[in-house]
Amino acid sequence: MVAEVISGRDLSMKLKAEMKQEIDTLKERGIIPHLTVVLVGDDPASRSYVSGKKKASNEIGMSSEIIELPESVSEVELLKVINRLNQDSTVHGILVQLPLPVQINVQHIIESIDPKKDVDGFHPINIGKMMTGEDTFLPCTPYGIMTMLHSKNISIEGKHAVVIGRSNIVGKPVGQLLLNENATVTYCHSKTKDLKAFTKLADILVVAIGKPNVITKDYLKEGAVVIDVGINRLSDGTLTGDVDFKSASEVASYITPVPRGVGPMTITMLLHNTIKAAKGLVK
Ligand code: GUN
Repeated sequence: MVAEVISGRDLSMKLKAEMKQEIDTLKERGIIPHLTVVLVGDDPASRSYVSGKKKASNEIGMSSEIIELPESVSEVELLKVINRLNQDSTVHGILVQLPLPVQINVQHIIESIDPKKDVDGFHPINIGKMMTGEDTFLPCTPYGIMTMLHSKNISIEGKHAVVIGRSNIVGKPVGQLLLNENATVTYCHSKTKDLKAFTKLADILVVAIGKPNVITKDYLKEGAVVIDVGINRLSDGTLTGDVDFKSASEVASYITPVPRGVGPMTITMLLHNTIKAAKGLVK
């Protein structure tokens, strides 16, 4: 078997073209969707992600701004900035780039964002709504993964989905979204004994380990759908996923590449959520 590649880049381009049209229509009604991204400190990876978000917003005609705060900013100061954005009716979406410096309690910050502007889908109210299957902002990477599966009409109901990773941003919510669509879900993580015994049973395998090329064909069931969330920079500067793409492609039915896989979809779903916020669809 040679796996079919699910291109996040191609799907993103299609979705962004549709969103651009929708924004043109919204502008005729006087609504300009606006995303504010808050960047604390100087982490190069965070800076690069944030500028990618602004660039993508601008490409589809959305308004966006980056508020930069120093690494030394206090929690109180950051809360003040968020409170101001919560009150500003021209701001539809607020995203505070993670991670944050040690003096700031991440959960305090997430919980201070108005849930109606929480385009990351990290607020406990929105996580709760996701769990109960209510319409809300879904976290962008898991939402992007589900959109990729849907784009290829990959059936989820009754399938065994194995998720490696249990972060609040990716692993936990993607497992929940797969469960919402009637998959049987197994979570694996750093303390799992005999990882391969689980991955070998996966019809759908979502890999968010954070280490390069761990998952080879030996970990896969024939015909598995393999979603690679990893973004690892090797010493020669190249980007690679958590999955050994070449090896896994020999066994998988579908596979996502790195780069141009899940990454572009994350930003695309952020734009989708911001439009949803601007339309006032999340109460
Ligand atoms: N850092 C890494 N991924 C994310 C994300 O999806 N949202 C935010 N706010 N920070 C991140």
